[in-house]
Amino acid sequence: MKITNNFIYRNSPSFTSYNKLNPKTNLSVSTSFYHDFPALQKAVDIIEKNFPNGTDILIYAGSNGEEAISVDSMLKYPEKYNISSIDPFKEAIDYANRAYYGVHALDDDGFLINTMGKTLTPEQLWLRSNFYKNVEKIPKPKQNLNNMQDEIFNINFPGLEIQSYYKLKPEVKQRIKFVRGDIRNINSFPVQTENGKVGAVFFRNALYHLTKNDLTGILKYGDKPNMNINKTEILKNLAKDINNKLDIGGIFVMGNHTQEHFYIADKYTPIENTVLFDAKRNIRLMTFPPHIKAFLELGNFEQVFEEAIRDFSGQTSLTLPIIWKKIK
Ligand SMILES: C[S@@+](CC[C@H](N)C(=O)[O-])C[C@H]1O[C@@H](n2cnc3c(N)ncnc32)[C@H](O)[C@@H]1O
Repeated sequence: MKITNNFIYRNSPSFTSYNKLNPKTNLSVSTSFYHDFPALQKAVDIIEKNFPNGTDILIYAGSNGEEAISVDSMLKYPEKYNISSIDPFKEAIDYANRAYYGVHALDDDGFLINTMGKTLTPEQLWLRSNFYKNVEKIPKPKQNLNNMQDEIFNINFPGLEIQSYYKLKPEVKQRIKFVRGDIRNINSFPVQTENGKVGAVFFRNALYHLTKNDLTGILKYGDKPNMNINKTEILKNLAKDINNKLDIGGIFVMGNHTQEHFYIADKYTPIENTVLFDAKRNIRLMTFPPHIKAFLELGNFEQVFEEAIRDFSGQTSLTLPIIWKKIK
């Protein structure tokens, strides 16, 4: 099967609200409000059920904070929970701490302003009412919002509001910590629970940042995938660290981007564990996703939520785990 970059790109979720590449890694830092809403909803339901009196929620790969703000808005009693939005990219954290956001009518989360007059689904209407619990509308701020540097974001149509601007309400800004940090240091991240354990770790659409799993080849670094990175080892260590930090009943939430689930074989992958995938780039693919193997090998996690992930052809969708619960 021949793969084109276009193919994968078309079938990847689009992140547009905050649309950025980290210039150092050439990897995407992009996100949007309520990105992959079904997974967020399931995660919130489990957290509320298993930790009704509150817990710490660590949102790694938090980018500019839109994911943490979304989760906070979906909790019935957000004041009971300590949410941290953690990301190594300084610019995204600075942006989060400034707490100004723009939502563009044509973006993924454009339904929040819906100036194009589309009929909204019941879920979108519900999310929209939650969103307005956390933000207040403001005039266009003087500060540049990173997601509106492109010409397209500044186009104005008379009488049509194409982009709206928001400020995080002070009580929400106080509730959520926006800090720089790396998931590889999760065990030293300070938390407020008595036993030092947390109810949830989010790390969505970022496993490929750790493993440099350049499946799409659309980014600059993708010209020559690095075969010397031992992806299995990295993911085993990550699973172990997450296991140490999570309380029983706690969850690990990952993303549904294709690159999170299909891995380029590296030089450590036995030849019998690969399938031919992209002859042009001379890339082989691992037959079994190493993060799934890592969590299964720990023996104390169960898969509690799955989603359909597109395979490389974009034609078949496979059901793969998105939320893992620590059961013992
Ligand atoms: C594509 S964005 C995903 C944002 C958001 N989680 C989502 O799914 O919409 C990936 C994010 O992971 C962050 N990241 C990369 N390496 C990380 C690490 N070692 N620890 C924590 N976050 C990391 C990046 O800076 C970036 O903001």
